[in-house]
Amino acid sequence: MGKVTVVVVCVAAAAAGVAAAVVVRRRMKREGKWAKAVGIVKEFEEKCGTPAAKLKQVADAMTVEMHAGLASEGGSKLKMIISYVDSLPTGDETGIFYALDLGGTNFRVLRVQLGGKDAGIVNQEFEEVSIPSHLMTGTTDGLFDYIAAELAKYVLQEGQEFQLPPGRQRELGFTFSFPVMQTSINSGTLVRWTKGFNIDDTVGRDVVAELTKAMRRQALEMNVSALVNDTVGTLAGGRYTNKDVVASVILGTGTNAAYVERAQAIPKWHGVPSKSGEMVVNMEWGNFRSSHLPLTEYDLAMDTDSLNPGEQIFEKMISGMYLGEIIRRILCRMAEEAAFFGDTVPPKLKVPFALRTPEISAMHHDQSSDLKVVETKLKDILEICNTSLRMRKTIVELCNIVATRGARLAAAGILGILKKMGRDVVRDGERQKAVIALDGGLYEHYNEYRKCLVNTLEELLGEEVYKTIDIEHAKDGSGIGAALLAASHSHYVSADSS
Ligand code: BGC
Repeated sequence: MGKVTVVVVCVAAAAAGVAAAVVVRRRMKREGKWAKAVGIVKEFEEKCGTPAAKLKQVADAMTVEMHAGLASEGGSKLKMIISYVDSLPTGDETGIFYALDLGGTNFRVLRVQLGGKDAGIVNQEFEEVSIPSHLMTGTTDGLFDYIAAELAKYVLQEGQEFQLPPGRQRELGFTFSFPVMQTSINSGTLVRWTKGFNIDDTVGRDVVAELTKAMRRQALEMNVSALVNDTVGTLAGGRYTNKDVVASVILGTGTNAAYVERAQAIPKWHGVPSKSGEMVVNMEWGNFRSSHLPLTEYDLAMDTDSLNPGEQIFEKMISGMYLGEIIRRILCRMAEEAAFFGDTVPPKLKVPFALRTPEISAMHHDQSSDLKVVETKLKDILEICNTSLRMRKTIVELCNIVATRGARLAAAGILGILKKMGRDVVRDGERQKAVIALDGGLYEHYNEYRKCLVNTLEELLGEEVYKTIDIEHAKDGSGIGAALLAASHSHYVSADSS
């Protein structure tokens, strides 16, 4: 072999060696980053842990706070709002009633014709209207004028079957799903906005008065007979079809629960004694907070950046508005610190609330072997391409961690209510079931969340007690419930019966 050939061979060998070393180094670097990303997920998972013992502590804390909130106004983070509903629908309600259901980015208007015993709901119609986002953070008049105008349009389409007898004004049940300090069955002042609404000048005002003024501006003749929270509406709607319904839970954009309390167990109630001896209490459990809640740095940062820092901590851990945002924040950290998506952080990933819960649910439920849905969602929503299967698997794992924590905490909240009602044990001779009416998009559409909630409740209660409890889906019960409560609190009821 000539000298030149030897040199060429040596140089080639050296180059190959260098290239191999670069490849190895790159791979090591990649694996190092991967290990870092996995570490972030593992650490998060540990902090999100909800073993049964912890959930029982959460449930106990919920029960304690319920007592405190019932004892005195401001006695607890749980407002335990007296709804002024001391009797729930019986099935005897008759007449034509409207309802307006406002609680998220959409509102519903509906009309129902109630036929009384045996006939039930004879006719019902509804329409859904979305609220332009600028109205959610604008002015009181802006929001209520828009709603009243839509309601007026809806009334104009009223068919023959919904005509009222002459001389009778239309009556409305108003479902307003925000914390409201009720002052009567048809009045109440807004405590604070939640779920992305933020209109300063509404806080402290009577929302029925605001709606009534807006309806007058539209020349719409309508009386608000009942103001109800969606949980109270759902409880009323649930009771209409099932006599054993004693509590309701909403798991949607926001979350909350209501239940039937003994009037005597409400020391802060100094109003007219309840005829039935009972009172529906709107817990506003979204604002529950306890040292037993498995809060992580991501939850705390999301809270700090939110429209309502320090408020609605339970809601921010379990409800639909926030699950995607928690995941987005973890992915952001993985992108920044572990180059999870490559050398740069995908710009769309930095946009708050870019990941919504329906997307999380779709990715979580992806059954395809190559996680095609996850791939498409990442591409379509976050403009992230070229994801590997192991990256997609990690994302599904994150969805599972966040949804599981939320669903298990929701189950712990329900256990807290059952404890307060004395329904967490089976008493001798107790035959009657306690039915809990559940509704909300998260509960309805996120199957894994729903399954986990139900399984956790069984795990916490034990098989024997669990058999005495039923979870019932009360689909869209809050609007119908408000119409039913408008019927039982109709201005004409006493006139008719005298
Ligand atoms: C509100 C509650 C409401 C719940 C579910 C929460 O943000 O504070 O009043 O019941 O969302 O809609």
